[in-house]
Amino acid sequence: MPYTGEAFMLKRLSEPSPNVHQLVAAWDGLAVGMGSLMLGMGRRRHSGDIFLFIHDDYWGRGIGRALLGALLDLADNWYGLSRIGLEASPSNDRAIALYETHGFVREGLKRADVILEGQLEDSVVMGRIRLAPAPAEGDPT
Ligand SMILES: CC(C)(COP(=O)(O)OP(=O)(O)OC[C@H]1O[C@@H](n2cnc3c(N)ncnc32)[C@H](O)[C@@H]1OP(=O)(O)O)[C@@H](O)C(=O)NCCC(=O)NCCS
Repeated sequence: MPYTGEAFMLKRLSEPSPNVHQLVAAWDGLAVGMGSLMLGMGRRRHSGDIFLFIHDDYWGRGIGRALLGALLDLADNWYGLSRIGLEASPSNDRAIALYETHGFVREGLKRADVILEGQLEDSVVMGRIRLAPAPAEGDPT
């Protein structure tokens, strides 16, 4: 969103929500991308939502894949999340291909979901389910 102002951005960067992990991708000392994992609350505490954004001058260099790998490592190996969700534009073949190679599947379409360049656009909802292994027989409960 344009015209948000410096104070808004400073607050957002210096007081991040404890439920959101934000990662920055650096290339030759420049910040060129970001990724976030937003943790679910209450009855959604088994789940999280992710978002990726790479500067278009740096696409195709493996940065998106690296950021997504880091976010999924957090989700799987530190939080043990069962469900990861995300949304992408239906025309965003690049992002959809990246997510499909990491086990995400298309779950549905949100119609007239966002305004893109002044037009209402749909969003594809994608998700990846990874259930925790059942305890082995004899394990303490
Ligand atoms: C989608 C996005 C994150 C990909 O980042 P990236 O750094 O270019 O991606 P990578 O270089 O790591 O490539 C990862 C995968 O993207 C896909 N991809 C890359 N270039 C592609 C192209 N020209 N056409 C189709 N798919 C392509 C491939 O699956 C690729 O995997 P591979 O290298 O094993 O073939 C980036 O384009 C972006 O930020 N787009 C704008 C914001 C956005 O769409 N975010 C996603 C919605 S949450």
